[in-house]
Amino acid sequence: MKKIRFYVCRECGNIITATSEAAVSCCGNKLQPLVPRKAEESEKLSVEDIGGELHISSGHPMTKEHYISFAAYVNDDRVMIFKQYPEWGMQFDLPLYRSGRLVWYCTECGLLYQELILTF
Ligand SMILES: [Fe+2]
Repeated sequence: MKKIRFYVCRECGNIITATSEAAVSCCGNKLQPLVPRKAEESEKLSVEDIGGELHISSGHPMTKEHYISFAAYVNDDRVMIFKQYPEWGMQFDLPLYRSGRLVWYCTECGLLYQELILTF
């Protein structure tokens, strides 16, 4: 699943995923898969062990014009998507203790990712 592609419709905000090549369209537009960019240190989500779960959060802007609209946890065999909403703090709890990748989509910055490496 690490090669999963994310598509976001600019018109309606629809989030679509594909595990392989696909012709994807929404609201009458053909969508291209988002190209993920490795997050800079300052852009990374913060990851906190809260006992049994990981609390993921970010101080990234969450205004109606500029916000993280979803985050996802991806590893070899699974994808979990956590919807986020403007004017709410960006945060979610990840009920997993396995290494993987965090991927998130900002309406201005695009698709970013960071590796989630767990040592316990
Ligand atoms: Fe952003």
